[in-house]
Amino acid sequence: MRMTVIGTGYVGTVHAACMAGLGHEVLGVDIDPDRVAALSAGRAPLRETGLDALLARTVADGKLRFTTSLAEAAAFARLHFVCVGTPQLSGGQAADLRHVDAVFDGLARSLRPGSLVVGKSTVPVGTADRLARRLADAAPEAGCEVAWNPEFLREGSAVADTLHPERLVVGVRSRYADAVLREVYAPMLRDGVPFFSTDPATAELVKVASNAFLATKISFINAMAEVCDTAGADAATLARAVGADPRIGAAFLEPGLGFGGSCFPKDIRAFAARAEEIGAGAAVAFLHEVDRINTRQRQRTLELARELLGGSFAGRRIAVLGAAFKPGSDDVRDSPALAVADAAHRHGALVRVHDPEALDNARAVSPALGYAVDVTKACEGADLVLHLTPWPEYRTLDPAELADVVRVPLLLDARNSLDAPAWRRTGWTVRPLSGPRTTGGAAVDEPPAHRSPAAPALTAPSGRTS
Ligand code: UGA
Repeated sequence: MRMTVIGTGYVGTVHAACMAGLGHEVLGVDIDPDRVAALSAGRAPLRETGLDALLARTVADGKLRFTTSLAEAAAFARLHFVCVGTPQLSGGQAADLRHVDAVFDGLARSLRPGSLVVGKSTVPVGTADRLARRLADAAPEAGCEVAWNPEFLREGSAVADTLHPERLVVGVRSRYADAVLREVYAPMLRDGVPFFSTDPATAELVKVASNAFLATKISFINAMAEVCDTAGADAATLARAVGADPRIGAAFLEPGLGFGGSCFPKDIRAFAARAEEIGAGAAVAFLHEVDRINTRQRQRTLELARELLGGSFAGRRIAVLGAAFKPGSDDVRDSPALAVADAAHRHGALVRVHDPEALDNARAVSPALGYAVDVTKACEGADLVLHLTPWPEYRTLDPAELADVVRVPLLLDARNSLDAPAWRRTGWTVRPLSGPRTTGGAAVDEPPAHRSPAAPALTAPSGRTS
């Protein structure tokens, strides 16, 4: 089938390459000529397992081309996927839909009659129907249709998630649109992937409800961890035991610094803003609380670090392990790790950050921090080591070796995933953000962390693009 994919960010590049990989004839569109030139040469603008090879192959065999021209796209096919970003509005909580609107307006001028425009961007409920009206007003003779087909890919496994999805969701207004999308995804349907064909509003909501639920699991366990801390219970064991119930599940139930990235934070805020607009009050309060608990984890980590340093960051050396918003990614958008590192720096600490993948991106957004390409260098002379992104390689560090280079062997494990007894055996004092504090040796007493009136402040997390 012939199709275009408009917007070659994370979702668009992966979708375009995967659709071409399935044998479709794909034209990718982006307004950025440098990006289009790189993609046309088979070079991916992002790191994603399997993407380079897929892109190089599909470009080389002519299945995938790129252009900056929407008019060319409109002429090329009668099926268009819209994958542009829907960032948080600057100065607000809602989604900024200007890129989506601009694409629809741009297409409306030259769409072929009977075209189907399918949104994949994450949008507030009601957007597809609004855009359908807009398209109909702009091109009343063309008889074009709008459908919504949200994506559920995760950074790090985006290609596999696209080619082997857990479910496909399409929001359509006609049998024709349903049939077209079934044909697009025919190989997945043959593999037995569940296909939910519904109305556009439901499809839009499936996406944001899924992200909201996952974010809720994380904030729920972090709220429980705070109770555990206060009650002297072990949050890590609690999470594992609660997650052992298959109705609950252990995934996304790890207490710690909380979620970040380009999706969860802005999606739950945009969802709350839209719920408020349409008068669904229960969801608004609920989603705000999920966001608030998550942001508080960053604050708790910062306060605890300050306590461990004796009450002040000024002039203290901090080694930060991790800058990416999650392991397996070089993305630092709304990274909890970088937010804490930045805040410690603003309060006078001398911060040196290590990350296996994200150093370049971190340096670009937080140029004032120090950076080190290996953990030992990051830890040299440190008064405190902060473990903020749970990269697997941090679990195999040699604590004895690091104890020799730091000034004070003091570790705050904000991801509760390092082997605290092993670190303590080599002389470290270890404070998990949540979890047992008194087993295995030199534990730190409970500081009056989140009750401190003079807590250093984190700036509010900013909105990010998809
Ligand atoms: C997320 C969803 O998982 C995808 O299904 C969705 O398509 C995507 O957002 C999107 O809307 O585009 P992603 O942002 O790549 O994907 O990252 P996740 O792996 O879901 O992690 C999100 C955040 O939660 C990370 O900061 C991670 O560190 C954090 N997390 C995850 C926790 O803090 N605790 C956990 O137990 C699990």
